[in-house]
Amino acid sequence: MNRAAPPLILAPMRGLAMLAFRRAFAEPLREAGAAAAYSPFVPAGAGGPPGRSAFADVAGPQPLPLVPQTIGKNPAAVAAVLRIFKDMGYARADLNAGCPFPMVRKKGRGSGLLENPSLLARICEAGVETMGPGNFSVKVRLGVADPDTLARDVMPVLDRFPLACVAIHPRTAVQMYGGAVDMERYFRAARASANPVVYNGDLDCAGGAAAIAARWTALYGADSLPAAFMAGRGLVRAAGAHARAKELLLRYLEDSEREMSGPAPVMGRIKELLACWRAVPRWAACWPRAKLARTPAELRVAVASAFPAGRQPLNAG
Ligand SMILES: Cc1cc2nc3c(=O)[nH]c(=O)nc-3n(C[C@H](O)[C@H](O)[C@H](O)COP(=O)(O)O)c2cc1C
Repeated sequence: MNRAAPPLILAPMRGLAMLAFRRAFAEPLREAGAAAAYSPFVPAGAGGPPGRSAFADVAGPQPLPLVPQTIGKNPAAVAAVLRIFKDMGYARADLNAGCPFPMVRKKGRGSGLLENPSLLARICEAGVETMGPGNFSVKVRLGVADPDTLARDVMPVLDRFPLACVAIHPRTAVQMYGGAVDMERYFRAARASANPVVYNGDLDCAGGAAAIAARWTALYGADSLPAAFMAGRGLVRAAGAHARAKELLLRYLEDSEREMSGPAPVMGRIKELLACWRAVPRWAACWPRAKLARTPAELRVAVASAFPAGRQPLNAG
C-alpha cells in the first residue's frame, strides 16, 4: 500500500467513552492508534441550549483532539449549540443522525432525521453556515428500517453541502448495534458521496490504524479506503487488552467515585465498561462477578478475582 493509513478516530459513545474514560485510558487509546475522538452528543433542544453541565465532556483540556457532537431536529437549536462549541474554541463539530433508540428516532432526532431529508438539509445548511465550509460533519446509518434510505434519499442531500466528512455506520436503526454490517450498501453510499467518508462499524483494532488499513485493503482494495476509520467498541476493547488495563481501571473507578455523586452512577459507568470487556479474554472471568456487584467494594473484589495473585496479566490480552 502506497498511501498512509487513514487515521483512526474514537467513536462517540455516551456512557462509555466520556471525557473521564478518554482521560483514564488515553495511553492505551493512543497506543491502539486513536488520533482523535468525537464526543458523545450534547442535546440541542428547542427550548434553548442546555446548561453548562451538558458541555462538561467537551470542556477543559482534552486527552485526544476532539470533535464535539450534537443531536437535534431544530436547525436554530442545533446552530445555538454549535455556536457554544465554537466559543469554546472548537473549529469542527458533528451532527448525530444515526442514534437508533426508538425514543430518539421517533421524535425525529438521530436516525429519525434520515427519514426527513428536507429537515436534514436545513440542519446541514445551519451547520455549515455556523461552523464554516468543511467544518461540519454528519454521522449516519443506512436508514431506520429500510437500508437503502441512505444511498437513495440522504446522500443526494448531504452532497449539496461542503461537509468535513460523513461517517457511515452501515446498519439500520432497527438493527441497533447487532447483526451484520452491510458492506455492500456501505460501498454504494460511500461511492455516492461527494464528501469524504469515514467508515464506522465492528472494526477490530488489534495492531492499530496501519493493521486496520492493511486488513481493509486485503478485503476490498486500497482504492476503497475511507478518509478515516472510526471505532467505538473495538478501541474500548483494545484499551482492556493493554498491559496496564487493570491498574487504569482501578484508578478510573477511584476518579469516578470522586467525580460522581453516590455509588449508583459509578457502578453503572464501570459495569458498562466491564460488559464491553467481556470480549477481551483476560477480562472475561471478571464479568459474571462484576455484573452482580452492588457496591464499588464488590466491584474491586470482582476485578481482583479476575487477576489472582501471582498471575500477571499477559500483554496479549
Ligand atoms: C454505549 C454506546 C453509546 C453510543 N453513543 C453515541 C453517541 O453519543 N453519538 C453517536 O453518534 N453514536 C453513538 N454510539 C454509536 C457509536 O458511535 C458507533 O457508531 C457504534 O458503536 C458502532 O461502532 P463500533 O462497532 O466501532 O462500536 C454509541 C454506541 C454505544 C455502544
